[in-house]
Amino acid sequence: MKAAVLCEQPGELVIEDLHIDSPGPQEVLIQTVGAGLCHSDLHFMEGLFRTKVPAVMGHESAGIVQAVGADVTYVKPGDHVVACLSIFCGQCRQCLSGNPHRCSNGRATSRGRDDSPRLARADGTPVDQMARLGGFAEEMLVHQNGVVKVTPDIPLEKACLIGCGVTTGFGAAVRTAAVPVGATVCVIGCGGIGLSAIQGARVAGAGRIIAVDTSGPKLETARLMGATDTINAAEVDDVVAAVRDLTKGGVEYSFEAIGLKATAEQAFEMLEVGGTATVIGMVPSSTKLEIRGIELLSEKKLQGSMMGSNQFRTDIPQMIDLYLGGRLLLDEMVSATISLDEVNEGYGWMKEGTVARTVIAF
Ligand SMILES: NC(=O)c1ccc[n+]([C@@H]2O[C@H](COP(=O)([O-])OP(=O)(O)OC[C@H]3O[C@@H](n4cnc5c(N)ncnc54)[C@H](O)[C@@H]3O)[C@@H](O)[C@H]2O)c1
Ligand SMILES: [Zn+2]
Ligand SMILES: [Zn+2]
Repeated sequence: MKAAVLCEQPGELVIEDLHIDSPGPQEVLIQTVGAGLCHSDLHFMEGLFRTKVPAVMGHESAGIVQAVGADVTYVKPGDHVVACLSIFCGQCRQCLSGNPHRCSNGRATSRGRDDSPRLARADGTPVDQMARLGGFAEEMLVHQNGVVKVTPDIPLEKACLIGCGVTTGFGAAVRTAAVPVGATVCVIGCGGIGLSAIQGARVAGAGRIIAVDTSGPKLETARLMGATDTINAAEVDDVVAAVRDLTKGGVEYSFEAIGLKATAEQAFEMLEVGGTATVIGMVPSSTKLEIRGIELLSEKKLQGSMMGSNQFRTDIPQMIDLYLGGRLLLDEMVSATISLDEVNEGYGWMKEGTVARTVIAF
């Protein structure tokens, strides 16, 4: 089966023909139908975060179950599924305390070192899977706790976006930060994640949603998603001052959806007294954020969000209902649909900042 492989860091993806194993007892073999391009893969391709190579990239995918392992009871061949990297063991302290997105027992849902690899080259070299999913591939072999069954009413080329970007952004607003009705919100960065955070804030009933980006077209899309105000960061000297002007003192909830030190610090600085800044972007591991300690005295909070603090087996079907009811916009988030061979071009557009989400249709 064909897959997009990262062979070195930094590096572009190479389309290779790989061998995929048959499902182990708890595993599911999926025929991939749609895969979204998330910026996290690009961080790895650029070498900002280390990962094992060679590895099939991609972690925002949906498809149809082809075969299941002996102990799989949750899905059967023919079922439509969305994959999510928040693979839960269901037994560790994080899983049992209601935070399966923080599962600390990845070993329980992975193959062991001595087992045959899920993916390999013709010469037997094992090939890793990004986020234990490896979604830029014609087929995926994953643990059953990394998928959720979904209604066939939603096209899988749209459903895939929920696997990472929408779950992450929407969840950051409704779950991690729990934005209440009427709140003032600012979202910095309007790619797939930021646009989803805007939608989460809208569905939660936020009163004012300010979108910040350096790209004019992205800000237009942000309005479509529910932003009530926009600030083009390339056209103002001081984003924080611009937000303070609009809100007469700052926002109650801010979200950073880029992964930069400067914008993560802006998110904290634009808070009003008692406000909460949520950093969603992947800030490089060697980068430290700086805030003025005294600000904490006014009960401002700085927090992170991992995959929107999801419980994806229940959240994703709910988000699909919102989509089918016209309240969650997915079609409008897709700027381009490409083939697997065009994946590097797709990431080129992301670097240029010209697209919201690009989807690979298999
Ligand atoms: N926390 C998590 O669980 C999680 C999950 C998925 C993705 N992420 C991270 O979220 C971030 C966003 O991902 P994405 O796929 O939406 O990326 P993206 O590249 O599609 O979007 C980033 C947006 O930020 C804008 N931007 C860049 N620099 C800016 C600046 N200085 N000021 C204002 N806007 C600026 C770009 O124009 C673009 O619209 C990435 O760091 C990604 O790794 C985190
Ligand atoms: Zn992602
Ligand atoms: Zn667990």
